[in-house]
Amino acid sequence: MINELIKTKNNKIVPKWFLRQSGRHIKEYFTIRNKHKNFIDFCLDENSVVNATMLPLKYYNVDAAILFSDILLLPYFLGQEVTFKKGVGPILKEIEISETYLKTEINFDDLKPIKNAIVKIKSIIPPKKDLIGFCGAPWTLSCYMLEGGSSKDYVKTRTFLWNEESTFTKLINKLTNDCVNLLEFQYLAGATVLMIFDTWSNMIPDRYWNKFGIEPTKYIIDRLRERNVKCPIIGLPFKSGEMLIKYSYESTVDIISIDWKTNLYWALKNINKDIVTQGNLDPVVLASNNLNAVRDEVHRILDLTKERCHIFNVGHGFVPEVKIDNVQFTIKLIESY
Ligand code: CP3
Repeated sequence: MINELIKTKNNKIVPKWFLRQSGRHIKEYFTIRNKHKNFIDFCLDENSVVNATMLPLKYYNVDAAILFSDILLLPYFLGQEVTFKKGVGPILKEIEISETYLKTEINFDDLKPIKNAIVKIKSIIPPKKDLIGFCGAPWTLSCYMLEGGSSKDYVKTRTFLWNEESTFTKLINKLTNDCVNLLEFQYLAGATVLMIFDTWSNMIPDRYWNKFGIEPTKYIIDRLRERNVKCPIIGLPFKSGEMLIKYSYESTVDIISIDWKTNLYWALKNINKDIVTQGNLDPVVLASNNLNAVRDEVHRILDLTKERCHIFNVGHGFVPEVKIDNVQFTIKLIESY
């Protein structure tokens, strides 16, 4: 349905899906996850990937499934040790950005289970529903890789950038090429939409917004188009404020994901009107027990985007506290609007 919207630009079509729809807010997720000794193993187990990807479709009439995977598999495939610690998040072992490291390449044999999972999902998912493949944007990947995990302000990463801009640029360029290959791989396996998550784009110093926020995304899309990848591409420049405007004109994404902090009226007025918008709902309203607030928020977004092409979604991933009933209520509101 996302493909149909992009092709027809018919604003009566309102596809719906949710960031992190296949995670911890559904009880059965833990049954799948607990079969594996670690999160990476989970992401590389064909059957578990299929089951986790399809799980939200059992509960919700969403128009797309997102491949169960993680942006941090890329650093893992490039040889960095990546672990996920309960209650802490991801931990990445320190690496040296040496010339040798910059030459490492993904061994696509390691991704066989992901390819098999995509093929299997495509064989069972209703044909009208999209399957979304994705990667982290080079800036966000470098944040995790240099910082060693999540951080409030990515001081280590930004210090590295200010100290060694040339090496940092080489790392970004390397990751940009890896993202092209990874996204093309998912497309060829059967993904019908691709998404680039720049979760930490709000940490890009202003001087570098073009160089590390927009240019890598544009480069990835240019190369994909050269390689005949024809599907819609979504960009998520998370919490990047007024920079959304430039991103919407220059990154060449087909769809721009709008975070929950951004004023939607302002965004619709200022960003490139030729591209499709997505998102903006605060995921945490779906963790509340205030149905009036859920209804008001859903209607606010539907009212504002009535004349535009918009994909209904949250403005960041579901938190584990999200209530299934609230999500089902949201879907009913969209369908009966
Ligand atoms: O429904 C889906 O979206 C499933 C696929 C998916 C996951 N991660 C599974 C996951 C996707 C699209 C991602 C993307 C991702 N991963 C991003 C970009 C989107 C965003 O949230 O901004 C980022 C930054 C990551 C990195 C990452 N992975 C972190 C920081 C964490 C730990 C923090 C957390 O939320 O627990 C993960 C782990 C992770 N990835 C989980 C899931 C379901 C939770 C693992 C668990 O405890 O079971």
